[in-house]
Formats: sequence, structure tokens, C-alpha cells
Amino acid sequence: MTQHLAAPAAPDSGTRTDWWRDAVIYQVYPRSFADGNGDGMGDLEGIRARLPHLRDLGVDAVWLSPFYASPQADAGYDVADYRAIDPMFGTLHDADAVIRDAHALGLRIIVDLVPNHSSDRHDWFQRALKEGPGSPLRDRYHFRAGKGADGELPPNDWESIFGGPAWTRTTDPDGAPGEWYLHLFAPEQPDFNWEHPAVRDEFRSILRFWLDMGVDGFRVDVAHGLVKAEGLPDIGHHDQLKLLGNDTMPFFDQDGVHEIYRSWRHVLAEYAENEIGPEGPSLEGRGRETGGRVLVAEAWTPTVERTAHYVRPDEMHQAFNFQYLGTHWDAAELREVIDSSLAAMRPVDAPATWVLSNHDVTRHATRFANPPGLGTQLRTAGDRALGLRRARAATLLMLALPGSAYLYQGEELGLPDVTDLPDEVRQDPSFHRAQGQDGFRDGCRVPIPWTVEGPSYGFGTGGSWLPQPAGWGELSVEAQTGDPTSTLELYRKALQTRRTQPGLGAGDALQWTEAPEGVLAFRREDFACTANTTGEPVRLTAPGRLLLASGPVDVGDGDVELPADTTAWWAV
Ligand code: GLC
Repeated sequence: MTQHLAAPAAPDSGTRTDWWRDAVIYQVYPRSFADGNGDGMGDLEGIRARLPHLRDLGVDAVWLSPFYASPQADAGYDVADYRAIDPMFGTLHDADAVIRDAHALGLRIIVDLVPNHSSDRHDWFQRALKEGPGSPLRDRYHFRAGKGADGELPPNDWESIFGGPAWTRTTDPDGAPGEWYLHLFAPEQPDFNWEHPAVRDEFRSILRFWLDMGVDGFRVDVAHGLVKAEGLPDIGHHDQLKLLGNDTMPFFDQDGVHEIYRSWRHVLAEYAENEIGPEGPSLEGRGRETGGRVLVAEAWTPTVERTAHYVRPDEMHQAFNFQYLGTHWDAAELREVIDSSLAAMRPVDAPATWVLSNHDVTRHATRFANPPGLGTQLRTAGDRALGLRRARAATLLMLALPGSAYLYQGEELGLPDVTDLPDEVRQDPSFHRAQGQDGFRDGCRVPIPWTVEGPSYGFGTGGSWLPQPAGWGELSVEAQTGDPTSTLELYRKALQTRRTQPGLGAGDALQWTEAPEGVLAFRREDFACTANTTGEPVRLTAPGRLLLASGPVDVGDGDVELPADTTAWWAV
């Protein structure tokens, strides 16, 4: 613990000691982490009871996906009340207990904030519907008259990310067909109008509410979506999903979003750093730039350079690196995205971030089990042994890179996606809107196994809201603890090493060294990493003393054979 708290700043990070610059942040998906009351749905009580697992794993912070009052049309990303906990997850008292216990264990808590849209059950939206056209409350969302003789056509051609038009027509209080409203996601998720001052004030107030509760930061959902191009212009194409991530869209990554984050940064700056760890305040003030509360952007942009705009010094602290998440297990591609990510973050002085899995994409153990190029949402299990071998290697590579890394619950167990869920249990709204052609996100949301036996393998005392596959218990925390070859022990060792080995952690640079084709090799201070992305073993000169490897490595007399799809860490 002491080592944990007193971890020295990496030599190349100058005087900065901001915790988030090299933090490993673990994403908890509350529905599927641990069920404290046996109703088959994960909850805050369950999370609280399992916090010691996260402390033992060695992460620095926990990001909790939404637990707010919500009709759950999009698993909680449809918020009806931003200041209340959904009864299915517990109470505000439980949230307070999670935050306090986490802090006492030395873990920070980041909560999910969903500012692009609310639930259609949100009080503002309900009142706007009831009051009818002309209600000032309608200005807080995007209500518009339809096109066509009777307003029967949507106001523009925008398509929902979840399939179908991005507009739904309302019914007026007198029963006549009325205006349309915009929803970039499900119809149950109406988009806020961020030009309205009441929306801006409300979210600053929500930030303060949770900062007062003691959270250490916010993961900002759809951070690139809040501001829409003036006049809501047509795009002029169908199949707009294909344009996402490459083209500039009138509803994503508009320059106007940045002033919102600048104003939020001011709100965070009003708050002092929380006391973390059993030994009291971690705040010593030396070289700290902020009170330790952070904003993390979920911003899907076409390039890492565009992503860097979100983390300019007066905006957010970190942004997810989705370019990295989308990269195949291929040395040349990886090297390119690593270089471009570091180069993009350097001028804005933000840490690069790295991520392989989250609740929206197929787990990396399954992505890498399949041929490249299939995308990030799959329905095929592929070659599981190959996927796991590559996933372990990919994780060690990621944890060796300068900056901050995100882990998704269950990846420390090497969990695959559950690709064969029956259609009738699937809850992803896009699965239903796209008529089963898309929306396979339930596969990475299956509740995680804690024990070898037992109902829902220790997830809870009852069942589990999505069915767990047979044999899930063999992948459990219980099954893997103490087995030196297990993925769980690999993660524990890697995170422990990351805290103690000079050259691992913060910083913004690495030095590539010579390596055979298909192998990535780099140095950072007294540390070296070699990753063999090929399907064949390669012979190398050992760069130093072996610290850790993702698979069995034999070090001979200065020579080493690095097996296929294996990463090794070295002290130089
Ligand atoms: C984000 C979330 C995703 C959700 C969407 C709409 O992308 O990560 O789960 O469906 O926003 O809120």
C-alpha cells in the first residue's frame, strides 16, 4: 500500500505528480460486476464488497458506468434523474459508501456523466411534451416541425447511431401528430439543446453535486456530440454510420463543444483533492496542476489530432484513444498509432491514453481471435486460444506505453465475448433497431465469474440478467488466483511492476529499437519491451533481465526466443 501511494513520478515526467498522468483506470459496468442483493442485476452493494479485488489487482481508479435513475432503454445511458441512483443499483447512501470505501483503499472513483441526451422520462422532456409546441421547455431539446405537406417527414436526413432516423414524431396534447424531436441514439434518448443556457447551468450544477459527493472525476459520454451544426443541415447520404469516424458530421466534433469543457474545468478547479488511502491525505501540492479531479472525454473523432483538442490545457484531462482500440494485432499498424498518439498529445501536454476493451466493443480476446478487419462488434468466437494469447500480449504492450491505460472489467480474467447469446435475451437497443444486423454489445456485458461454482458463479446469490456460458467458473477470480500462469496473475504482476520499475508509467516518449519484422521493441529509461505480433517464434538478443512475459519465454545466454504473439518486459 505504501509503495502504491508513494510511487515516485517517472523520471521523464518532470515535477508533475498528477495521479491521472499514468493511472490505470478500471471500468466497472455496474449491471454485470457483482450483485449484492441476489436479484440477478449487479449493484452498488456488490461493487462495494468487491473493491478489495480492485485494490489487489493494483489499479489506481475505478470508472463506474451509469447508475442513475433510468428506465434502462440503453442500459442506464438514458438518465431520468442525474442526482438519483436507480433503485436497481441502490441508493445515494450506497454510492457514498462506495466512494468512501474506495478512497480508504487507495482507489479513486470516476463516474459517468451523460450530457448529450437525457431519458425521454426526464422531467424536462415530459413537461415539454405535455405543454405542447411553443412550450419554452421544448427549447432545451431539439423539437422541430416536420417537412412535407403535413409535417409527416423528419426535419432533416440524420440517422440514429442505433439505426433508423434520428427523429421521432410526437403527438400533441390534443392527440394530433405534432413536432419531431432529435435523438442521435434511441428514441428514448432525446438530445439536449446545448445552445440553451438552462442546459449549461444544469450540468454545471450536476458536476458540483457529484464533486460534493466526493468523486474524483467524470467520464463524459458522447463528449463530441453536444453541439450541433447551426441549422441542423442535411448530410445528403444514407448509411451515415459508415461515415462516422472518418468524415466531419454536423452532429459530431463541432468546434463549439470546447467552450463547454473549458467552463467545466473551472468548476473542477474549485475543488480540492480528495484524501486517498489509509494513510490520510495524498495531497502534498508539489507540482500539482489541479485538485486531482478529472474529466475524461469519450470523443470519437476522425483523427488523434482532433481528439487532442479535447485535452488542451484548459479543457479535459484525458480522452479515450479509440484509434488504438481499433488497431489490429500488427506491429506496423501498432507502431504507427502509438507514434501518432504520442505526437498528438505532446503539444497539448496531456497524457496519451490506451484502451483495448470497453462495454461497447467486442472484448479484445475475441477480436484478436478473429481475422482482422471485421470491426469492433463481432458475433463470432474465432480461435479462442489464439485470441487469449494475443490479448495477453496486447495488454502487456499497452501497459508498457507512456501515459494512462483503461481496463474493462473481466479482461483481467481473459474473458472472451459471449458470441452466442440467444436473440431473445439481447438488450442492446441497436440490436433491435438494426433488426439483429448490428448491436452485439451484450456479448461483452455478461456478468463476470468470481467463483468456480455457485449460482451465477459468485456474481450473486441468484441468477444473472444475461446468461453466463457453461464453464464460466473456470475463468473465475477464484480459479485463477494463485495460478502463476493465469491471466489474472499476469495482470496483477504487470500492475505491480508498473508501479516499481523505473521507465514504466508517465511520460510522453519512447525510443524504438531495432527488431525483426513483426516485432515491436522499445526502451524507456531502464525499461525495455519487446512484442512479437507474428505467429512464429523470433530469436532476439535479450535487452536485459526478464521482468515479465505474457507467455513462456526461455532466456538463454544473452539470447532469447520470443514465442509467437508474446510480449516481454525487461529491466535494462
Ligand atoms: C456512449 C456509451 C454507450 C451508449 C451511448 C449513448 O457511446 O458508451 O454505451 O450507448 O454513448 O449514450
